[in-house]
Order: sequence, then C-alpha cells, then structure tokens
Amino acid sequence: MTKGHVHKLEITELSLELGGRTILEDISLDVHHGETVCILGGSGAGKSMLLRTIVRLHEPTKGRILLDGEPVTAMDPSTLRRRVSLVQQSPAMLEGTVEENIRFGLELVGAGPEVIRERIDASLKAASLDESFLGRRAEKLSGGERQRVAIARAHALCPEVFLLDEPTAALDPRRTMEVERAIQSLKGDADFMMIIVTHDVEQARRLGDRTVLMRRGRIVAEGDSGSLIEDLDPEERARYMGELACMEHEDKEGDVDE
Ligand SMILES: Nc1ncnc2c1ncn2[C@@H]1O[C@H](COP(=O)(O)OP(=O)(O)OP(=O)(O)O)[C@@H](O)[C@H]1O
Ligand SMILES: [Mg+2]
Repeated sequence: MTKGHVHKLEITELSLELGGRTILEDISLDVHHGETVCILGGSGAGKSMLLRTIVRLHEPTKGRILLDGEPVTAMDPSTLRRRVSLVQQSPAMLEGTVEENIRFGLELVGAGPEVIRERIDASLKAASLDESFLGRRAEKLSGGERQRVAIARAHALCPEVFLLDEPTAALDPRRTMEVERAIQSLKGDADFMMIIVTHDVEQARRLGDRTVLMRRGRIVAEGDSGSLIEDLDPEERARYMGELACMEHEDKEGDVDE
C-alpha cells in the first residue's frame, strides 16, 4: 500500500452549531507534517467535537478545514477517513480476534495477502504489541490493550493524520504508560501528524510538540507544551486548574478501567 503525506492541516475560523447551540467557535489551528499537537481542556470544551468535525462526522457551520489546501468538505468521507484516522476515546472492537480486527479494514480497502501480512506486522510494532496478541479475543482485552489495538488498527491503514481522543482516559498509571509508549513509538516514525486530546497537562508535556487549550468551544491559549499552563495569566490558569480538579473528581467517582 502506498501513501502520500499531508504537509499541512489548516483549520481556519471554524464554527459548529448544533441544535441552536454553539459547540465550536472561531477555531484556527495549523498542524504540520511530523508534528504532534495536544489539545487540553475541561469537560464539554469541544475537544471531541473538534476531532469529529475534522473527519466530517459534523459539518462546520462556518470556516474551513484544509488538507494541503484541499477542503475536507470536498472529499469523499471514506477517502477522508482513510487519510485522517480518528481513534475514539472508548474504541469499539469487532467481535473476533485482534488479527481479525486489524485485518478487516485492510480487506475493505482491497489489500492483498502479502500487504496485509506486512501491515499487520508493522502496526503491531507501532502500537507496542507483540505477535501473541494476534490470536486473542478483542473483547477480552484490558482497556489499555484495547486502546493499543485501536491504534494498531488505525496505523495499518497508513493514515496521514492521526487523531487520538483521550487515549489514556480511565487507565491506571501503568497502562497509561504502555499506551504512551506506543504513541511515542508512533512519533518516532513521524510520517504523519498527530492531534491528541487529553486532560492531563503532564501527558501533553510528554507527548506534544505544541499544546492548545480549549474552553467553551474556543481556543483560549496556544503554545509550547512545556510551559503553556505556566504562561497563562493567573485568572485563566486558576480557571483551568479548577476545571481539571472537577474532572479528576468525576473520574474517581466513575472509575471505569476494565
Ligand atoms: N451530537 C451532539 N449534538 C449537540 N451537542 C453535542 C453533541 N455532542 C456533543 N455536544 C455538546 O458539545 C459540547 C462539546 O462536547 P465535546 O464532547 O466536544 O466535549 P469534550 O471537550 O470532548 O469533553 P470531555 O472531556 O468530557 O470528553 C458539549 O456541551 C456537548 O454537550
Ligand atoms: Mg471528549
């Protein structure tokens, strides 16, 4: 399977309204080839909706999303979703083995047996999984393993843009590190760009080349992943830390790991 790569994803003055509510407002963000951008923000900030809008699960009310100058709205959704892969927060697995889960998308795009073999091998490596996973039942995997299989499944199709929505939400620290290791190894390859949604400032620091902070559908700050939060004005920082504390409290109340 051959692929090109996107040099630039360009989001300009993007707004999204649904049911009379403004969900995203005036979002502008550029991401370049090889770059990883993290999106931080409290619950309901619009992080997931932004990723979903990029792959046309929602149509923008205003603004543009361009892949190397071509509007995503002009692309056939299935072609777009092959080039831009969204790994959702709680990825659904098909019934069957891990191998069947990875193989399915490859068969759908008409890949031959040799290519399928090669892509499965490469994707397992990319997601820090070993071959023993291939025969395991996908529905019996732990949360962290499932997340890595979802990353492998997306990687198998050679996307040019990777969108990861809270890849480690609801995982314990050890599994979080396993998934982060898989993401780091993807970054090592870097033949694409990544946008990672997280509500963990430290994770954004570890994984992001750049970080943006969202609140109420808007980007309120953008900068270096290492210092973004420290560089916020005190009022903005206090507001963000308050939102974060609420989220951690909610996470603990509804602990759903496995
Ligand atoms: N299909 C929908 N129709 C209308 N409003 C929606 C829809 N899906 C989400 N919303 C609203 O859009 C806003 C942003 O939601 P979104 O899921 O993007 O938040 P988020 O930043 O990802 O939050 P979390 O950290 O909790 O995942 C929320 O107010 C939500 O209620
Ligand atoms: Mg979300």
